[in-house]
Amino acid sequence: MKKTGKLYGIGVGPGDPELLTLKAVRVLREADVIAVPKSKEESDSIALSIVKGAVDLSKKETLELMFPMTKDKDVLRKAREEAAAAICGRLLAGKDVACITIGDPMFYSTFSYLIPLVKVRLPKAEIEIVPGISSVMASAAVTVTPLTEADERLAVIPATYESEKIRHILKTFDTVVLMKVNRVFEKILVLLNELRLKENAVFIERCGGDNQRVVNNLDSLKGEKLDYLSMVIVKK
Ligand SMILES: C[S@@+](CC[C@H](N)C(=O)[O-])C[C@H]1O[C@@H](n2cnc3c(N)ncnc32)[C@H](O)[C@@H]1O
Repeated sequence: MKKTGKLYGIGVGPGDPELLTLKAVRVLREADVIAVPKSKEESDSIALSIVKGAVDLSKKETLELMFPMTKDKDVLRKAREEAAAAICGRLLAGKDVACITIGDPMFYSTFSYLIPLVKVRLPKAEIEIVPGISSVMASAAVTVTPLTEADERLAVIPATYESEKIRHILKTFDTVVLMKVNRVFEKILVLLNELRLKENAVFIERCGGDNQRVVNNLDSLKGEKLDYLSMVIVKK
């Protein structure tokens, strides 16, 4: 009987192949299958394009795992079950599978939902996580924004929260990172204006990628269709 393969969750960093870790590159080179979670919003996998900059994928299987961008629990459950089944099929065939994630796999990542589903199917399968540089750390670096100093407190939240909750968090924390800001940017702008925090905010898009953009004048973005890979850092 073939030995069950090993599943790796690999963080590939925010966009610059130079920000892949040495360990990520080694594991990706050695893996038989590269699993690529994809959403409809992300027609070309950013994670895959980062990897292609550092690893020759021509002799490996690339396994696309489709995840719809929806809150419909049944649709999500079905997509996750299908993805876990596809991964487990490869593991049972003795293949090592490296599932890639932008940034870090333990931070707002689809991969984390797959872990329990794989464990149920293959309780003895080995799972290893290779951490990556998160977009939060990369955006702080690019804008030279120390996220926290001394006893300051940091909050990282999806900007899709209700306005009331975001207002409270903006008032309470010293630094606030607003993820997934693209579709709700106007709402965030209203809140920042109300709290007089607009001058403290910076917008970062596709951090680490070729088309990275840093914008300090948030008003200039009004009415623009913003990229999914974008965030706002507010530092008081
Ligand atoms: C599903 S989360 C993935 C987070 C990722 N696992 C990480 O560690 O950075 C997607 C959100 O992360 C942020 N993001 C990811 N990559 C980014 C990048 N290169 N530039 C700016 N924001 C990014 C955006 O706020 C985006 O909506």
